[in-house]
Amino acid sequence: MDKIVSLCKRRGFIYSGSEIYGGLANTWDYGPLGVELKNNIKSDWWETFIQKREDIYGLDGGILLSPKIWEASGHTSGFIDVLVECRSCHRRFRVDFLEGATKCPDCGGHFTKPKKFVPMFKTLIGPVEKDASLAYLRPETAQAIFVNFKNIINSFHPQLPFGIGQMGKAFRNEITLGNFIFRSLEFEQMEIEYFIKKENWKKYFEEWKKLIENWLVSLGVKKKNLRWRPHGKDELSHYSERTEDLEYKFPFGFKEVYGLAYRTDFDLRKHAEESGADLSFIDLETKKKFYPHVVEPSFGAERTLLVILLDAYKEEKERVVLSFSPKIAPYKIAVFPLLANKPKLVKKAKKIFENLNKYFTVAWDDRGNIGKRYYAQDEIGTPWCVTVDFETLKNETVTVRDRDTMKQTRHKAKELVKHFQKKLKF
Ligand code: GAP
Repeated sequence: MDKIVSLCKRRGFIYSGSEIYGGLANTWDYGPLGVELKNNIKSDWWETFIQKREDIYGLDGGILLSPKIWEASGHTSGFIDVLVECRSCHRRFRVDFLEGATKCPDCGGHFTKPKKFVPMFKTLIGPVEKDASLAYLRPETAQAIFVNFKNIINSFHPQLPFGIGQMGKAFRNEITLGNFIFRSLEFEQMEIEYFIKKENWKKYFEEWKKLIENWLVSLGVKKKNLRWRPHGKDELSHYSERTEDLEYKFPFGFKEVYGLAYRTDFDLRKHAEESGADLSFIDLETKKKFYPHVVEPSFGAERTLLVILLDAYKEEKERVVLSFSPKIAPYKIAVFPLLANKPKLVKKAKKIFENLNKYFTVAWDDRGNIGKRYYAQDEIGTPWCVTVDFETLKNETVTVRDRDTMKQTRHKAKELVKHFQKKLKF
């Protein structure tokens, strides 16, 4: 993990937040390569689960929602962490993370009595603090979906089963520190509420387990490092009748990457009761009115990114490689002139770079020797390197070097776009 953290900082993937002011614990900033990688993950998710599915609609709800929503959804009373504090060193711990320990793992001190804590960030709406009204930063994206349920029905008239999905920032006042971007105060969720008839929930729950896992595997993560773990009764969220976590074998043990929950009709029913809006659904055949039930796959963008980094990281004899799947690699291709002090080579290489750059994300490098440039591109996971050499000037061909096999093949420069388009079709 330390190696990944240091590579991420050195090569511009992830920086610790507010660093020059001493840092702000549990916050992270994404550098040029990190933002590309995260965007690629998010676009693949959006394409797979929203754009390519006729039965799932996209939404982009607000971060700030009426505080009444969090009352109705049960978050202000049921979304709770139970904390204890060490009487000696005053460090706080979530009881569910203590694994039965009765003394402080850091200093052996005694704990205070457990206290309930709502990990939602509060903020104020209004210019004058004393008149301002309380609002929360959303701790999950899901609620905007439930409160827009009727809007989607009225615009699109879908039949069951159908889903509404959205991605965006969520915020939680987490007190457990460490493990890099695994648990942060601010993170991005990619969630779907899949509305179904009650009697079908088990079928769709099993179907979504496969879809979730297959998607992560399609991003290049090894299946052998994944497992499903059902929540015990005492672990279930206040809205869930059944939850299973997809866990990854992190260096700090098997931990949750994504959650899949059967939320019953809890949310629609509660919002209907509290708001007075009619959030029922009418079955076209039976003409019966009812609240659809919900299976909710919930994905975290940062945990996806962390799993991808850990799974792709390899140390070989003479190099470090991030063997990203090409479809999510920050750069698909790097272009080099063999020698930076030969203007003809540089001019030719720049032309090839500019042409490829119209279609793909492409890196340019003319520093150091070829070996160093390959090393640098392997370390950031660029799948292919194109080198322009003296032969290019004679016959318009270039070498393409493959990151994983390290083999070099010769290609006509004018056929490169087609060559890489073919490689990138999945
Ligand atoms: N709507 C259901 C829900 O929010 P959750 O298990 O609390 O369920 C879903 O969160 C996913 O969001 C997690 O599986 C994880 O990927 C991500 N997540 C939750 N809290 C996080 C945090 N503090 N930092 C990073 N990711 C987090």
